Amino acid sequence: MQIRTLATLLAAATQLVVAKPLALPQDPNTSTAISPSATIISASEAPTATAPTPVNPNANPCAQVAQMYNNPNTTSDSTGYGSFVSFTPKVPAKLAWDCLNDVPLDSVSAGPWLDSLRPYIEWQSTTAYLKNPPEGYQEPAADVWGDFESIKSRAASGEFANEYELEFALYRLFQTTHDGHFRYLPKLAGGVFGFGRPISLVSYSIDGTSRPKPYVYSDVLSFFVNGTAEPSTVTQIDGQDALEFLENWAQYGSLQDPDALYNNVFYELAQVSLGTSGSGAGTFAGAGRGAYIYPGPTTTLQFENGTTAKFDNFARVLTSFRNIQSGADLYKTYVNPKVSVTSSVSVNNNAVATATVSPRPGYPSPVVIQQNNYIAGYYLDEPGYEDIAVLACTSFVGEDDYQDVAYSFIEQASAAGKTKLVIDVSANGGGTILQGYNLFLNLFPDILPYGATRFRSHETFDIIGETASERIWYYPFNYTNPPNPVWQDFGGGTPFTYRSDVDINYENFTSWRDKNPPNEFYGDNFTSIIRWNLSDPLNTPANGVQVNGFGNRTGLPPSRPFTPENIVILYDGYCASTCAIFSELMTEQAGIRTISIGGRSRDGPMQTVGGVKGTNNYPWSFINELVTDTYALAPDQAGFFNSTSLYSYVDPDTSFTPFQRALTESGQVNVRDGIRMGDETQTPLQFVYEPADCRLYYTAEMTVDVTAIWEKVVDVTWNGDSCVDGGFSSSEEYNEKRAEGASVAKLKAERRLKKRKQQMTASRALALAQSQDLFTDLNSIVPRQGLMLP
Ligand SMILES: *[C@@H]1O[C@H](CO)[C@@H](O)[C@H](O)[C@H]1NC(C)=O
Ligand SMILES: *[C@@H]1O[C@H](CO)[C@@H](O)[C@H](O)[C@H]1NC(C)=O
Ligand SMILES: *[C@@H]1O[C@H](CO)[C@@H](O)[C@H](O)[C@H]1NC(C)=O
Ligand SMILES: *[C@@H]1O[C@H](CO)[C@@H](O)[C@H](O)[C@H]1NC(C)=O
Ligand SMILES: *[C@@H]1O[C@H](CO)[C@@H](O)[C@H](O)[C@H]1NC(C)=O
Ligand SMILES: *[C@@H]1O[C@H](CO)[C@@H](O)[C@H](O)[C@H]1NC(C)=O
Ligand SMILES: *[C@@H]1O[C@H](CO)[C@@H](O)[C@H](O)[C@H]1NC(C)=O
Ligand SMILES: *[C@@H]1O[C@H](CO)[C@@H](O)[C@H](O)[C@H]1NC(C)=O
Ligand SMILES: *[C@@H]1O[C@H](CO)[C@@H](O)[C@H](O)[C@H]1NC(C)=O
Ligand SMILES: *[C@@H]1O[C@H](CO)[C@@H](O)[C@H](O)[C@H]1NC(C)=O
Repeated sequence: MQIRTLATLLAAATQLVVAKPLALPQDPNTSTAISPSATIISASEAPTATAPTPVNPNANPCAQVAQMYNNPNTTSDSTGYGSFVSFTPKVPAKLAWDCLNDVPLDSVSAGPWLDSLRPYIEWQSTTAYLKNPPEGYQEPAADVWGDFESIKSRAASGEFANEYELEFALYRLFQTTHDGHFRYLPKLAGGVFGFGRPISLVSYSIDGTSRPKPYVYSDVLSFFVNGTAEPSTVTQIDGQDALEFLENWAQYGSLQDPDALYNNVFYELAQVSLGTSGSGAGTFAGAGRGAYIYPGPTTTLQFENGTTAKFDNFARVLTSFRNIQSGADLYKTYVNPKVSVTSSVSVNNNAVATATVSPRPGYPSPVVIQQNNYIAGYYLDEPGYEDIAVLACTSFVGEDDYQDVAYSFIEQASAAGKTKLVIDVSANGGGTILQGYNLFLNLFPDILPYGATRFRSHETFDIIGETASERIWYYPFNYTNPPNPVWQDFGGGTPFTYRSDVDINYENFTSWRDKNPPNEFYGDNFTSIIRWNLSDPLNTPANGVQVNGFGNRTGLPPSRPFTPENIVILYDGYCASTCAIFSELMTEQAGIRTISIGGRSRDGPMQTVGGVKGTNNYPWSFINELVTDTYALAPDQAGFFNSTSLYSYVDPDTSFTPFQRALTESGQVNVRDGIRMGDETQTPLQFVYEPADCRLYYTAEMTVDVTAIWEKVVDVTWNGDSCVDGGFSSSEEYNEKRAEGASVAKLKAERRLKKRKQQMTASRALALAQSQDLFTDLNSIVPRQGLMLP
């Protein structure tokens, strides 16, 4: 099977989206239903009713898992959240852990495997910076190449106790860079089991000003719906101080900011709205990256009121255990099967099964909504908030339908007399790069987006660029009918022909050397600054987006639908990738003000963008394809290419190894840095500290109703209410309102809480309760050039 091209990826996604915005009629009383928008992947794996064997407690751990897996009575998630995608029964966490650790180390295969990853790691743009991070970066340094060599020598000398230890160390090497674009998930580390805890937590401040504390979410729901006592704070987890435990646990996440990482530990409505493509219940409960960390057999919580509660942890079985009798079987059949070396890199091209949650629990009825809940517009029903429009921009993954929802909402809101706009980018891990540009241009059609980027320059990159610049002898070309089909990979967004893109001054490059001198910064080599040429007619066919103000989307009303001081952006820290691009344009070029919510139980400012700020990721399969494209562009140069680093990507002995040993599309690399306008040092934005103008804490009602968050955001931005750190003092109106003082804020806070108690119905509470069982299903996510996978 051929590897998927970026174009095919985009085409595959197109089939899923409808062209028209959907204004879903929503009955707030209906309980949450999950609606998969595509095919069931492996229903055939569900157990048959034949020959059930009772679990033999003396069998080896993988055999016991197999017995449970084959038992027809083994249930998947009680709510059915996982069952439509594939059969995912739960087994005890300890049993899964023992099974993983029962796979013997294959130190013979380890060396060639690890070496096969090197060519892809070369593309990571930030290794020099990670080793010795600039001041402002909030996470520890990471010596990628040093750690890589150390893993390699430990594997060779048999220092790892088993194969899982090796795979987990490798996973952590990528994860500790806290770059959500730099990713590799070996099969044992993430494809066999997804660990979890049967409880999710939330973190909030009891009065909005004192530091947030952790609570069990079901206690919070019970408080709202059944009027039980206020939940008691979790003070200890497994005998350790709860805050310390949770801050440490947070570090297993992908984000680069400690407050953002901390938020991702907890249940969050915005993440839940993304269905199985989000990290709804939080990493503590096993969603997102929490699934890869063994939580121990049990979890013990101690509460402030003196009560202790103990829970059994579980593991979801993510792969078939038919015919597995031991760890060695698991290795042979799943982890490293002997495959025919004649097949080229193959990427699982399963239909995408995006599970959306409909209606979104904790959200009001939308004015307009995209079918995957990726973007939606809302008005607030609370008296006094009639002039507010809220754009919940939860993802940037999208094509026409996405763009139409945003455009139509902004148009409708203006027409309806809404003068102020809250843009909520909570849970937004990015998506289609040009959707970020498009939304900015929708709001500020008169500003040319800056968007400076650069690539790391290395031998393979340079040879591909030199070849493409020579052999693709004119630009733009006819995308649907190019002289050679591989040209498509070089049009509308990749940097390899100098004729595409524009330079730092928005002018054409004059040669490949002009585009890739290379330049040295921080002890490494990089291209010149590259910007998107928004007039490039290949952008639309290659990316599925025609940005506003260009091509046939010129002269569209309304121009500047909101003034900059009437827009505010709300962050939960998760914003990454295309969201980071959007944020940079909004704050640096339009001067939009920002609010961050949540974070650690510590005073002080919180950053806005806590996810990766690199501006482009490439799946490793795409890099592999670029290399084979290069051979196809210049067949006469094959002998030369074979003598260079290009050969390592096509070497028939090893070229498929990186893909065979890991989850589909799990190999990703950050290829582009984002660079701030005027920064002569060209420090990647990934390492630049950016506090929000205002920080807020969550309060209890904000964990059950997102409109409580939006009301508070409006109050601190335009109505004189205070932030826990920072704040706004620009307008006169604001200062007058501030004079009303804290007593008004207190009354409002009481009213917000009371209203949510009154409005909480049993069915709403049930929908919220059930959504805690959502887990992250990587099969439900279409990888995109500007998306941080969870
Ligand atoms: C929703 O619930 C409320 C209160 O229980 C009830 O009055 C109303 O009729 C219900 N609406 C629908 C559409 O079922
Ligand atoms: C499955 O459940 C049925 C009904 O409860 C029971 O009769 C049967 O023995 C169970 N089978 C196994 C293998 O546990
Ligand atoms: C509220 O009480 C009812 C009846 O006891 C119970 O079934 C339900 O689970 C409770 N809801 C929550 C969220 O605790
Ligand atoms: C203590 O708090 C926990 C968590 O809110 C609750 O489940 C438990 O019932 C409380 N215990 C008592 C004795 O009130
Ligand atoms: C591209 O080629 C196709 C097939 O020859 C043709 O139908 C189409 O009009 C061309 N597009 C452009 C923009 O020239
Ligand atoms: C810039 O490059 C494009 C693509 O090669 C070309 O069509 C265009 O004429 C050039 N523009 C200028 C101003 O040189
Ligand atoms: C950008 O692309 C358009 C369309 O190919 C071209 O006309 C233009 O010259 C390019 N460069 C600049 C600087 O706009
Ligand atoms: C950067 O490029 C120069 C010139 O090609 C080369 O000598 C040097 O080794 C490169 N540095 C790195 C870190 O690759
Ligand atoms: C622009 O062109 C595309 C493709 O031809 C078409 O689908 C779209 O409707 C057009 N958009 C506008 C605003 O005319
Ligand atoms: C380049 O390497 C490939 C893979 O080993 C081989 O099939 C091909 O013949 C080589 N080409 C040349 C011209 O050496």
